[in-house]
Amino acid sequence: MRILVVGAGGREHALLWRLVASPLVEKLWCAPGNAGTAEIAENLPIKADDIDALVGFAVTAGIDLVVPGSEASLVAGIADLLAARGIRCCGPSAAAARLEGSKTFTKEIAAAAAIPTAAWASFDDPAAARAYLRRQTAPIVIKADGLAAGKGVVVAADMAQAEAAISDFMEAGKLGAAGARIVIEECLVGEEVSLFALCDGEQAIFLGAAQDHKRVGDGDTGPNTGGMGAYSPPPVLTPEIQEAAMARIVRPALAALARRGTPFRGILFAGLMLTETGPKLIEFNVRFGDPECQALLPRLKSDLLPALLAACDGELARFDLRWHDQAAITVALAARGYPGKPVLGGEIRGLEAAGAVPGVRIFHAGTARDQAGRLIAAGGRVLSVTATGATLRAARDAAYAAIARLDFPDGFCRHDIGWRALASNG
Ligand code: AMP
Ligand code: GLY
Repeated sequence: MRILVVGAGGREHALLWRLVASPLVEKLWCAPGNAGTAEIAENLPIKADDIDALVGFAVTAGIDLVVPGSEASLVAGIADLLAARGIRCCGPSAAAARLEGSKTFTKEIAAAAAIPTAAWASFDDPAAARAYLRRQTAPIVIKADGLAAGKGVVVAADMAQAEAAISDFMEAGKLGAAGARIVIEECLVGEEVSLFALCDGEQAIFLGAAQDHKRVGDGDTGPNTGGMGAYSPPPVLTPEIQEAAMARIVRPALAALARRGTPFRGILFAGLMLTETGPKLIEFNVRFGDPECQALLPRLKSDLLPALLAACDGELARFDLRWHDQAAITVALAARGYPGKPVLGGEIRGLEAAGAVPGVRIFHAGTARDQAGRLIAAGGRVLSVTATGATLRAARDAAYAAIARLDFPDGFCRHDIGWRALASNG
């Protein structure tokens, strides 16, 4: 099979690393890719949201399957264009991708399917939003409706912060059109888990779960990032809670989307809060998480490709994915300045030595080669240093042993990835 993966991060490198192991693969491409994906796929100079160019390439190159890593191409409608050309895409139509593109839409699906989630209301008008806010109590959550690259959620500790978020999003236009509409919702308390399901429009199978660390600094401090590290499986997700999440959240959402005539195919990412009264939905995304994917795929024993194809073809019912009985962790190595303006161009050395630590795999994120062939930082998150082990502690130790062998003066990482699980489970 000829396969195109869309994206340029650690997630896409990990997807390609799994796909290249499949005996069904003839050739892999990645658009636009990074220095790591270039080692196993042919990188294409096409941006992840340039869906016309991506589809044009897929048609001329005889691509059999497109796997979008990020939401950008999906929200723009790549699955619809590919379907019209008879090319498989492991990702939802633009209509179903609204699960990620619009928080109000997600809340409407949750309401239609009786999915447990935070109480909420949606507003286009700042005065109405303020009037509603005055009847609530802090802490309270203010969310921009549209895609805001992780900057659209304020968990307000008091009413002044909540008021400021309403002004910033709806009046000052800080997030552009994404903030013209907002959702105000109840603040949920518990541990967060990212749960993944592979969906074929009707059936959903569990595709692993992970916990990530969104804050930039040790001890979960500082600004939010795309994710500084993740581990899998999450000890807090018992088999009972996992089944409850599949039965009360994932499958009802899938059924509600199918009833609306917009069935969901692809990878559904349920952001969950494990509350005292059971798992509740925080948000849906329509793709794998980054960095969760890097911690999940090394644990997958089954060939990933037949499962992705079954999702595209509506044949997941007979599928059962098998997993290694191991823990995995991934630590993001970022360029100084991230999540603000990262220092680009810094050289990274020592990958071979780091990758030789037993159990370690290094996925590239924002990397490139300079003219002399040196590996340099080309983005905020630069490497995903991933390790598996018999226990989470063993995996953690291996990942940090690998990082100690890397020479990247312009980089930094968190030193406490997995702390919560390690504190509770020894
Ligand atoms: P999102 O951009 O929707 O992933 O939200 C970013 C983060 O905000 C989540 O990962 C949670 O940590 C937090 N968050 C979002 N909604 C809620 C909520 N209703 N209660 C508590 N925390 C929330
Ligand atoms: N790690 C969170 C995400 O991919 O959205």
